[in-house]
Amino acid sequence: MFDLIIKNATLPDGRNNIDIACAHQRIEAIERNISAEAKVTLDAQGWLVAPPFVDPHFHMDATLSLGRPRMNRSGTLLEGIALWGELKPIQTIDDIKERALRYCDLAVSMGIGAIRSHVDTCDPELKGVQALLQVRDEIKDYLDLQLVAFPQDGVLRDPNALETTLRALDMGVDVVGGIPHFERTMAAGAESVRILCEAAAERGLMVDMHCDESDDPLSRHIETLAYETQRLGLQGRVTGSHLTSMHSMDNYFVSKLIDLIVEAEVHAVPNPLINIMLQGRHDTYPKRRGQTRVRELRDAGVTVGFGSDCVMDPWYSLGRADMLEVAFMGLHVGQLSSREDMAWCFEAVTTNSAKLMGLEGYGVEKGCKASFNLLQANDPIEAIRLKAHRIAVVRHAQVIAQNPPLNTEINIAGRPNFIDPSSYAPKPS
Ligand code: FE2
Repeated sequence: MFDLIIKNATLPDGRNNIDIACAHQRIEAIERNISAEAKVTLDAQGWLVAPPFVDPHFHMDATLSLGRPRMNRSGTLLEGIALWGELKPIQTIDDIKERALRYCDLAVSMGIGAIRSHVDTCDPELKGVQALLQVRDEIKDYLDLQLVAFPQDGVLRDPNALETTLRALDMGVDVVGGIPHFERTMAAGAESVRILCEAAAERGLMVDMHCDESDDPLSRHIETLAYETQRLGLQGRVTGSHLTSMHSMDNYFVSKLIDLIVEAEVHAVPNPLINIMLQGRHDTYPKRRGQTRVRELRDAGVTVGFGSDCVMDPWYSLGRADMLEVAFMGLHVGQLSSREDMAWCFEAVTTNSAKLMGLEGYGVEKGCKASFNLLQANDPIEAIRLKAHRIAVVRHAQVIAQNPPLNTEINIAGRPNFIDPSSYAPKPS
């Protein structure tokens, strides 16, 4: 007897009429016409079953704090950092934990199965770290949370940050972060990359740095990050997040830089919703888009995953834990409009992000964890177009969130009575 069987699913690669049988928290069979008993059977009605959404870049200690203690009036990254600095001393561990758990409820309902969250380590009490370590443990049965020690005020610019960041790693934070473009000088930024990569190498940890989140074409810390990755043998374990200055860099320099990133096997995480909002604020017109060179990085062989970064916090007032909204924005800003490019954008919020986070047992294949989403769409492109309704969210062979399919009744003489948004998909010719 299986725990769960999904009937008549379509998979992201186009296979259809597929049944998925799950037991012992794993996918035990995935093929057509499975005739076996199960405790729970779900009819996918031909809709898409895809692996969980993965958010490779988030700030869970700040989420849902919008308006506390005030709003960001200029809309800039720097006012956001200043505002966060005002909130930090007045919030408690319980505040942070309660907001984080509420966000995780929302994330689960939207089909997110794993989140890499940065956590601010520039705090002598490490309140965010204490809160999110507890949250990581409490949610582990339904959501994988990977924490990054993030010295928000600069590991060198803040005189206490190196000690508190290392202490956070001692407490069990998973990944080493940084913010070289916020250090006092370019030289200090490069020095911060070296120090933090050495700390990661000594501890056998991954690195994920906020890197060059700036419109300054001379902000080139990604070059140092790639260099240190190679020098310390960290290939495949390092991610550069944001990388927005690459948008504005000289093309000749980028042609050399991308090769260095590829050689070092450094991954890239653009955050399209946030950077289209924050970047270019010092421009008149034309205004720069503030998204890194997604197509060029991808085509060179870099693993690129899209992150959400912020939901209702000092940097961004909107967001709803919808990784399809993130993919939708990344697609537009990057002009990734061919069928192949759009399908790739779905990978950027699923398989690519799972790869760069090093998730085990991820995917809708035999032997993988029995964790996936049933989406009201026929394929990955339609999922992005519709920001598809999540009909069922399955984790470890249990349905942990569900929604009846959308089917709006309309009352117009001579027209159909019900509208299923997924019925508008283009038909193969
Ligand atoms: Fe960030």
